[in-house]
Amino acid sequence: MAFLDLARERFSVRSFAPTPVEEDKLALILEAGRIAPTAANKQPQRIFVVRAGSEAMDRLCSATRMIYDAPIALVVCWDTEAVWHNKRETWHHYTSGDMDCSIVATHMMLQATELGLGTLWVRGFNARNIHEALELGDTIEVSCIIDVGYAAEGCTTSPHHEIRFDLEHSVSTL
Ligand SMILES: Cc1cc2nc3c(=O)[nH]c(=O)nc-3n(C[C@H](O)[C@H](O)[C@H](O)COP(=O)(O)O)c2cc1C
Repeated sequence: MAFLDLARERFSVRSFAPTPVEEDKLALILEAGRIAPTAANKQPQRIFVVRAGSEAMDRLCSATRMIYDAPIALVVCWDTEAVWHNKRETWHHYTSGDMDCSIVATHMMLQATELGLGTLWVRGFNARNIHEALELGDTIEVSCIIDVGYAAEGCTTSPHHEIRFDLEHSVSTL
């Protein structure tokens, strides 16, 4: 599939079928995240796979309403001891963790789309609550969650999906 067709096919899924995600598909999704570029190639991403029916999923769902019964939630985090961090004052202590994780998450999301799976990018949560619920380590920061699963029958795009501003809104030539 051409890349733009794939990107257009993806939409936020907020209603998942109970059908499990095949392990070989999950492996491809994780591989897509593994090969993503990261600042200075530090590869600080730490992906926590949470499966429906597990105790971890119960704890995750107690910390956020945004899982929508997805069979898998990929909790995308970074390790503060591995991330690229520029301490120069003039660079405003720039840390790449969220950017790295966003690229990793995008790779995984689009790979899932290509495999016929639905996804939801989730950031509407209190990261501290997620951290505590999953008992993540001291050096782990939560960036986002990607819900993954087969879209429930009849699941369609939300009105937001149809709304994209023209290029003139976001692109300027200087
Ligand atoms: C950084 C980010 C955070 C988001 N957080 C949430 C969320 O917490 N809950 C949710 O239902 N959707 C969330 N979304 C999905 C957006 O609402 C959605 O991508 C947008 O409305 C466009 O719709 P579409 O994905 O169907 O094209 C998030 C998307 C992004 C990129």
